[in-house]
Amino acid sequence: MEDSQTKARILIEALPYIRAFSGKTFVIKYGGSTRKGEEQTSPRPEDISFADDLVLLVHIGIRPVVIHGGGPEITRMMNRLGLESRFVDGLRVTDRPTMEVVEMVLSGKINRELVTLVQKRGGRAVGLAGRDGNLLLGERKRKDLGFVGQIRSVNTEVLDLLDRHRYVTIVAPIGVDEEGDPLNINADDAAAEIAGALKAEKLIMMTDTPGVLDAEQKLIATLTPPKVREMLENGAIHGGMVPKIQGCLRALEAGVRKVHVVDGRIPHSLLLEIFTPEGVGTEILGGETPS
Ligand SMILES: Nc1ncnc2c1ncn2[C@@H]1O[C@H](COP(=O)(O)OP(=O)(O)OP(=O)(O)O)[C@@H](O)[C@H]1O
Ligand SMILES: [Mg+2]
Repeated sequence: MEDSQTKARILIEALPYIRAFSGKTFVIKYGGSTRKGEEQTSPRPEDISFADDLVLLVHIGIRPVVIHGGGPEITRMMNRLGLESRFVDGLRVTDRPTMEVVEMVLSGKINRELVTLVQKRGGRAVGLAGRDGNLLLGERKRKDLGFVGQIRSVNTEVLDLLDRHRYVTIVAPIGVDEEGDPLNINADDAAAEIAGALKAEKLIMMTDTPGVLDAEQKLIATLTPPKVREMLENGAIHGGMVPKIQGCLRALEAGVRKVHVVDGRIPHSLLLEIFTPEGVGTEILGGETPS
């Protein structure tokens, strides 16, 4: 009896959020780091619960757009093919053979797996690369990094088209340049730019930590851009969290209302962050009214 009352309370508590978010766009970066485990043939439990969360979001009228990473799996495939992974300033040096592996793993493997999983769990999903429909147009970032790219413009037309038919869109972070060559784009950047272009209600960064941690490794529940800048300057935010947080700041500047950093290893962390007042990760508020 008590148990069923708890269930009812949870549903009722979610109601104001469902009401507020119905019809809104959430851009979700699903980090490669959440899928660090060794390769398995069966889907991972955290991927299944993520797919279930996406299906639920669509059914209550939210428009989820997913951008996935895949660094660890690219490295694994490079090793299998006897290719060496090289990084400069945290960016993968991407010559032509490496770019081929990046596309194979991101578009050919991870994207397919996520699309299949959402469909298996009862949702409608379409997978795209940022090359499709010129979604992510860009240019090479630096001469010494090969195909590593930065985004110059986001063409959201193809996303709007799929949204009208209520598909979950799952995007591999591969862009295209003016010559039609592929670009290896950081998934955090891709998610941030797409969120900004869509003026999303939320950008949710799912990663492999409980959220943004302070210097004592304690989770910070709520942050503001000035505090975040301070943490970037004093090094409390470092490594893989830097491009993520810089993307978050740009997204807020572009009009995204709220940004979240959430632990993708915890089942249903996405729902818990969105539909409970306390949340589970870190939220970064934009300019005005917190909600
Ligand atoms: N203040 C901080 N709070 C939390 N994590 C931090 C902080 N500063 C640095 N980090 C690091 O950032 C990492 C998350 O970024 P990382 O690039 O590894 O993951 P990801 O972006 O989710 O995955 P991928 O890059 O493969 O898509 C954490 O595992 C942690 O080591
Ligand atoms: Mg990263």
